Amino acid sequence: MEKMIPKHVAIIMDGNGRWAKQRGLKRSEGHLKGSLVLEDLVVHAKKRGISMLSVYAFSTDNFKRPKEEVDYLMNLFIKMFTTKFKRLMKENVKVVFSGRREGLKANVLKAMDQIVEKTTDNTAITLNICLNYGGQEEIVDAVNKIVKDVKCGNLSLDTIDKHSFYHYLYQDLPPVDFLIRTSGEQRVSNFMLYQMSYSELYFTNTFFPDFDEEQFDIALAEYERRNRTFGEVK
Ligand code: FPP
Repeated sequence: MEKMIPKHVAIIMDGNGRWAKQRGLKRSEGHLKGSLVLEDLVVHAKKRGISMLSVYAFSTDNFKRPKEEVDYLMNLFIKMFTTKFKRLMKENVKVVFSGRREGLKANVLKAMDQIVEKTTDNTAITLNICLNYGGQEEIVDAVNKIVKDVKCGNLSLDTIDKHSFYHYLYQDLPPVDFLIRTSGEQRVSNFMLYQMSYSELYFTNTFFPDFDEEQFDIALAEYERRNRTFGEVK
């Protein structure tokens, strides 16, 4: 029988701080290791035939963290998008972003725009990096875009439905089939709320910096065992 592969996988990359603490390291070391793991996971996801991978890199609420940590993460993002991601380019990975641009500094936005532009024609897998992202914020922003389009006469109210609503989200990606959250927490934390209506959820105690290709395969094997009914009787 053919393997059941999720088309769109989303990962809440949690536990970087605890991973570092366990080893007597600074929290930033956990984020750094996490960034290397992410690179490997994208390549692995491509190998497994997954066509979309969304990752929660920085929530709108993460700005409440100490300035030192926020600054570290922003610089790590810049470094990743400008240098490290060359490997992703070679692997034919298309990078897109979800989240609010307002609130992000010009150098971060520049690095984001660069990687988007450089990878725009790539086709093997789409990596959707959620940065300055909130799920409720995404829905509110979509509603505001709809209101604007209706006011301008570009959209008539009776054409909006649950499918066309996707066009107004930050990225017009298909629903999330499989959500993975690392580090033992069992909550969705304002992540992709609209896209997750029928997602299968997978929680593992492994901290994200230890979530390697083998762990990913264990999660995918669990997805294969799930019986997705979408509310029907099957
Ligand atoms: C949550 O762990 C993790 C984050 C807020 C940052 C995620 C960022 C990366 C994995 C870096 C690489 C990403 C990109 C896109 C280059 P936590 O700090 O909340 O861990 P804790 O719950 O153990 O404190």
